[in-house]
Amino acid sequence: MIQVLVSQMAAHIEGPQIREHVLYRIRHPDQGSKFAAIVAPILKYDDETILRTLSRAGYDGMVFIGDLVREIVGDVFFEPQNDRLELHLFACEVRRECRFHGIGTRIVEAFLAHAWDHGFRIVRLSAGNDKEQFMLRVLEKAVRGELDLQGFRVEHDGGEGLGWARLIPVTAKATA
Ligand SMILES: CC(C)(COP(=O)(O)OP(=O)(O)OC[C@H]1O[C@@H](n2cnc3c(N)ncnc32)[C@H](O)[C@@H]1OP(=O)(O)O)[C@@H](O)C(=O)NCCC(=O)NCCS
Repeated sequence: MIQVLVSQMAAHIEGPQIREHVLYRIRHPDQGSKFAAIVAPILKYDDETILRTLSRAGYDGMVFIGDLVREIVGDVFFEPQNDRLELHLFACEVRRECRFHGIGTRIVEAFLAHAWDHGFRIVRLSAGNDKEQFMLRVLEKAVRGELDLQGFRVEHDGGEGLGWARLIPVTAKATA
């Protein structure tokens, strides 16, 4: 899978396809979600303004493209919270015909690696009501050390709500 950061999509050969996908996702948020409420007032603006406004607010994401068939197979979107101390995964989707083949798990792995590389040590995985079970399942696997995480491991964190985790260097001793 090819992984493209939304904030860098313009430099990618698949940039136009990714941009279209991202704008579709922004314009069709999960009904009733926090993101739907946040994005509603800016949907009247043009595409460029919408993307720039969300980017300035810290929103970013990753889009995943198949190696052979160059089509988008999944995505993940996230935003920093709490004075940019935490990175919150709030949306994730795998193309319908590609589900249940481990792609969602690899997407969460990529999100965790991105958070780690960008200095975040607390993350929250929460992608909407119907995906909560999947997220918690993958988080459990991360905590059990079953994900491919280079240089860090994952511990549960006691934050309010579901899906909180701490990222810890592999050399550090467990604290919980
Ligand atoms: C949720 C979603 C991102 C998962 O992507 P995926 O590529 O199918 O996930 P994976 O194949 O990596 O699955 C990882 C684990 O989560 C489980 N899982 C996947 N989707 C799940 C779901 N919706 N509910 C509960 N568990 C789920 C898998 O069975 C797998 O468990 P296992 O490790 O014990 O085999 C994807 O299904 C999606 O985009 N769904 C959008 C719509 C949706 O949420 N529908 C749910 C309606 S029930």
